[in-house]
Amino acid sequence: MADTKQSKKCKNIIVLVSGGGTNLQALIDAQSRGELGCGRITCVISSKPGVFALERAEKAGIQTRVIVRKDYADTAAYSAAMLDAFREEQADLIVQAGFMTILDETICKAYPNQMINVHPALIPSFCGKGFYGLHVHEAALQKGVKVTGATVHFVTEVCDGGPIILQKAVAVEQGDTPETLQRRVMEQAEWHILPEAVRLFCEEKLAVENNIVTILS
Ligand code: GAR
Repeated sequence: MADTKQSKKCKNIIVLVSGGGTNLQALIDAQSRGELGCGRITCVISSKPGVFALERAEKAGIQTRVIVRKDYADTAAYSAAMLDAFREEQADLIVQAGFMTILDETICKAYPNQMINVHPALIPSFCGKGFYGLHVHEAALQKGVKVTGATVHFVTEVCDGGPIILQKAVAVEQGDTPETLQRRVMEQAEWHILPEAVRLFCEEKLAVENNIVTILS
């Protein structure tokens, strides 16, 4: 008989960052309000030294690691180092929260439907190679879209192409700059749907079939 207590064990969440870490902060705040279900952030890994996300983690008493891309010869060597770290940390869930470094498919294969990413647009718009950070909002404004938003999805070998977990739309306002739009997308969408997706994962409410996510009741 399946041991349900075993399968619902508290999940070790590893958060990957590269910059300011406002999405990490949203996760830390959700955790302190008891909103991550049976998950806890056990380690924050940054691809860059000295970023503010590391300070946020340290202030919250979370262990940090810095694994710098340029210390490794190529993407494969970097991915292998990250994989070693995930295994040492006994990761159950890996969250890319503003993580700006490419990992190869060995990671997705080692952690199928166990790695999630937050993207600052409504996928399949403004996503894929070259669409990250402010560039995404520049492209949305250049196109003149009236609605944008954010997406949380599982990570697969296809850049921004994995199964979509949650999305939230955000209005574009006249006079928006990439910076004002980025801030509104974060405030109204990212900081809400990322912790919610993590909670759903930790409570084992996400089922994936044929690349489609179903939220279990
Ligand atoms: C966020 O807008 C996140 O969605 C985006 O970078 C920003 C990081 O901010 N991620 C990507 O573009 C990944 N493709 P943060 O460091 O304050 O969380």
